[in-house]
Amino acid sequence: MKAIRIHDYGDAGALQYEDAPAPEIGADGLLIKVVGAGVNPVDYKIRAGFMKAVRALTFPVILGSDVSGVVERVGAAISRYKPGDAVIARTDGAYAEYAAAKIDTVAPAPKSIPLTHAAGIPIAAATAWTVLFESAPLAPGQTVLIQGGSGGVGTFAIQLAKLAGLRVIATTSTRNVSLVRSLGADEVIDYTREDVARQARDVDLVFDTVGGEAQKRLYGVLKKGGLLISIVGPPDESLARDHGITARFERSNVTGPKLAEIAGLIDAGKLTIQIEKEFPLVEARAAHELVESGRARGKVVLRVSG
Ligand SMILES: NC(=O)c1ccc[n+]([C@@H]2O[C@H](COP(=O)([O-])OP(=O)(O)OC[C@H]3O[C@@H](n4cnc5c(N)ncnc54)[C@H](OP(=O)(O)O)[C@@H]3O)[C@@H](O)[C@H]2O)c1
Repeated sequence: MKAIRIHDYGDAGALQYEDAPAPEIGADGLLIKVVGAGVNPVDYKIRAGFMKAVRALTFPVILGSDVSGVVERVGAAISRYKPGDAVIARTDGAYAEYAAAKIDTVAPAPKSIPLTHAAGIPIAAATAWTVLFESAPLAPGQTVLIQGGSGGVGTFAIQLAKLAGLRVIATTSTRNVSLVRSLGADEVIDYTREDVARQARDVDLVFDTVGGEAQKRLYGVLKKGGLLISIVGPPDESLARDHGITARFERSNVTGPKLAEIAGLIDAGKLTIQIEKEFPLVEARAAHELVESGRARGKVVLRVSG
């Protein structure tokens, strides 16, 4: 099969479009004929070697963690899916004509959007869900500030927060203000023109998808006892103590049942996926460069077949 592999860590030029053996599946696995593969920032971080300490690779490696496609074959223990079913999944080796997924990270694909676009769902939407509904569930009427409202995670987070009845403040740059507003944000702060630290206050939860210096500016917008969750890196705990808040890093928890709920919301017309661009698999390098630029609006996906 054709796949995008790396033979060593490197820049986007390390991505090779080449032949690779199709993956094997176990009793609890599904072989998926890939239609779309989502491109996430973690993919370029893995490619570049930034994740070496937590996730050492044995080369060559097929990149990609988000997949949509059609079930080709199922393992002996699987009765819930059959060949021909359209699915989405969180898996390794998504940038390929075939990918293997474990049953616990698979869900039926939404029917109301193109299957290629559905590849943009798993990590981004499930991360937004994990933070808003599991790590820090708020009561309706409480306020969340979403830093990075126009990104893959942020575009889902704004909509999910509104579905939960929250008041949403989102940060973004000038060109994305109208997009972020259209997703339901009650207040949009253009961080290129306004100081976020002065524009927001008494926030219950900060959901940070940007990190670094931009994150540091947000500690003061929380009310005392508030919570900052970053999905980018460990927050500064001493700064948090100084502000009388709690701050922590959170990882996504992508499960089949969660993906099924998300797909259901999309089919019910309550949640949309924003697609910045679709690239053919062979152009994975350009897709990585776009995501690595940090300027993508919503999701970037690779079209593998179909
Ligand atoms: N911990 C986990 O499990 C987990 C899971 C998923 C993602 N992540 C991490 O979370 C981060 C975000 O992921 P993503 O998929 O949403 O990334 P993404 O789609 O690449 O985010 C791009 C967006 O970030 C916005 N942005 C950049 N700098 C900003 C700033 N200073 N203030 C506000 N917005 C800013 C950009 O908007 P403008 O162009 O308007 O600035 C752009 O729309 C990545 O670092 C990713 O690795 C972690």
